[in-house]
Amino acid sequence: MKSEEDVKMQKVKKKVMRKYGEYYWERHILPALEFGRTLCRKLNATCTVVELGIVFHDATKFAFHDLNGDPLGTKVCAEMLREAGYPEEIIEKVVECVSYHWGVHRGEHTAHSIEAEIVVNADALAHFKFLDDATSEDSKKWLCEKLEFEWEHMVSLTEARELGAEMYRQFKERFKSTPTQSSQVVCG
Ligand SMILES: [Fe+2]
Repeated sequence: MKSEEDVKMQKVKKKVMRKYGEYYWERHILPALEFGRTLCRKLNATCTVVELGIVFHDATKFAFHDLNGDPLGTKVCAEMLREAGYPEEIIEKVVECVSYHWGVHRGEHTAHSIEAEIVVNADALAHFKFLDDATSEDSKKWLCEKLEFEWEHMVSLTEARELGAEMYRQFKERFKSTPTQSSQVVCG
């Protein structure tokens, strides 16, 4: 039987999933959740915060498009969590995960919690799952730059580097002839 917490989480996920659409949810959010849960177990972090952080981390860019005065999507995230019945303590931590994720893209690297750091690491690892979707030379080049940048700057936890080591090795092997530039790539 599902616990009350599971039911609450499923309701939020369903609601946000509809906003992202099936493709983004399945190709990015689900793999990120998988990595996030594994890292939570390894690092003894609060899984509820990490899961919700991952669910909302790209909402501004890919799910909620009417965000006047809410550039990081944190207000809409907090409202939805409040509505679902999450306590303020959890909401605050989830909002921090979402803000930190966007901060990293702006070059800020000080996470206030292990949960926020896990969200960023899981997000970066999940981007390797997009490799099969890159078909044109341009999209391959873009993705190679993005993955190199993120492996360097966003996969910061030793546990995440161990988790992604084989994926990164295969990526290097498969795309060794694809030219990359050292430019900073801004992505979800
Ligand atoms: Fe993302």
